[in-house]
Amino acid sequence: MGLTHNETNLFYYNMSIQQEKIKELVERRATARMGGGQKRIDAQHAKGKLTARERLAMLLDEGSFEEFDMFVQHRCTNFGMEKTKFDGDGVVTGMGTIDGRLVYVSAQDFTVSGGSMSETMAMKISKVMDMAVRNGAPFIGLNDSGGARIQEGICSLAGYGEIFERNILASGVVPQISGIFGPCAGGAVYSPALTDFTVMIKDTSYMFLTGPGVVKTVTGEEVTQEELGGASVHATKSGVAHFAADSEEEGILTIRELIGFMPSNNREEAPFVETNDPAGRVDDALNDIIPDNPNKAYDMYQVIGSIIDDGRFLEVHKSWAKNIIVGFAHMNGRSVGIVANQPKILAGVLDINASRKAARFVRFCDAFNIPLVTLVDVPGFLCGTQQEYGGIITNGAKLLYAYGEATVPKVTVTLRKSYGGAHITMSCKQLRGDINYAWPSANIAVMGAEGAVAILKDIDAQEYNDLFCNPYNAAGYGYIDDVIEPRNTRFRVIRALEQLAGKAQENPWKKHDNLPL
Ligand code: HXC
Repeated sequence: MGLTHNETNLFYYNMSIQQEKIKELVERRATARMGGGQKRIDAQHAKGKLTARERLAMLLDEGSFEEFDMFVQHRCTNFGMEKTKFDGDGVVTGMGTIDGRLVYVSAQDFTVSGGSMSETMAMKISKVMDMAVRNGAPFIGLNDSGGARIQEGICSLAGYGEIFERNILASGVVPQISGIFGPCAGGAVYSPALTDFTVMIKDTSYMFLTGPGVVKTVTGEEVTQEELGGASVHATKSGVAHFAADSEEEGILTIRELIGFMPSNNREEAPFVETNDPAGRVDDALNDIIPDNPNKAYDMYQVIGSIIDDGRFLEVHKSWAKNIIVGFAHMNGRSVGIVANQPKILAGVLDINASRKAARFVRFCDAFNIPLVTLVDVPGFLCGTQQEYGGIITNGAKLLYAYGEATVPKVTVTLRKSYGGAHITMSCKQLRGDINYAWPSANIAVMGAEGAVAILKDIDAQEYNDLFCNPYNAAGYGYIDDVIEPRNTRFRVIRALEQLAGKAQENPWKKHDNLPL
């Protein structure tokens, strides 16, 4: 769009009065831009944090930011609050561009009442969220807040409610991204949780329902803020954060990069990105990547890096549920979502977390018209009491459901193992996989020979292997569209995606689905 901020063309006819008024405007703007004042800005910097405006300046294309509601002040009169008012009231909101594409933004300003949520702050955020949906552009919310503004009581809670409802209604309509750049506690955590992607910053941001003090009182557990809800915890243990950045700058660049892979709304396609990487590039190394020993691992990242444009992969949930890999890439310029089992971690098994991680990703891609490329090497679902008690059945069903309902182009390549329920789940033909390829090393069966022989004691492992543990049995039924040479995978997947570019598929009408939760 190339929008730029330009205030030099104001037309005025009464020079002296107008100049006075303009002077007032310039001064009021300058004051508003100082948020809670220099002392608090210095305190923010001393904590190693940027201010809301500094973050937005880094996030948006230079000169593209237009601020709204800069002069909004809170309306609270409780506890003498009327004596402390700041223009803008704790949040900076507006629109700007990222790589020339329109986005709407809000950034909580910790220098004003600790960025706490007031009724008017909620109004400001709600306004830009409404604009994002109305105008079909992503919404990016940067959080840095002490939570509900205590003095405002229920009006603050109502404000959160207004935002949550908008997060819900915007879900699947425009992409929503949350940056956590400071505290995000209590009910405030639910806005980021409702959005598509959450980026946290190591050591300076945290998310929890309640802090270490209350945790100690309630459960007796002693834990630090970082251990309870720091970026590393949420990026590795809970999966609440999709990205944990080392610095605010890295976090902001991650948001910019993410936006580049997605369309502005659910009616558009993601932007095309020119590449010099030839579509027909073959990689001989892939012909040798599968070890002879079926129990030996190889690194799925090598396969992903080999088939995508310029090896450029933006991995989502990189440190959580590492037995499955999900992330964005381009293939011949088109944005794709990659989902791949990782044989190096837990043999690539599908467990509760891997299923949840991939299901959420698949649903995002489907909602926003991003084709799915699935690379399969999966020994099955993880069994045992821990998984059963944790609900592997329901959680595994999430991924099954996500693939089955997805109507975007789905191209699947089976590299090695694809057994049982996990075979079906990983975008098989019957879940409306569009093009399903297999490498000659593929084993598509109810289970591996060892397991089969253990159950059916009188069958011969060799006979079982010959019959089922190859791609040709499935290909013989048409459940695999073609067996391909590994070195040609990039070319074949790109050709499949190009063939599917015009795909139009609809699910039966329903009020909404009932995904197993
Ligand atoms: C009003 C607040 C505030 C709040 C901070 N401030 N939190 N004002 N409501 N919730 C103000 C402080 O009074 C101070 O004002 C300024 O912000 C900076 O705060 P400090 O405490 O000086 O900063 P720091 O030492 O960095 O500590 C940050 C903090 C702490 C850890 C976030 O402020 C804190 O614990 N705040 C309360 C957190 C909380 O319990 N919130 C309610 C959660 S329940 P001055 O004028 O001195 O600069 C909740 C429910 C939401 O949020 C439900 C939604 C459904």
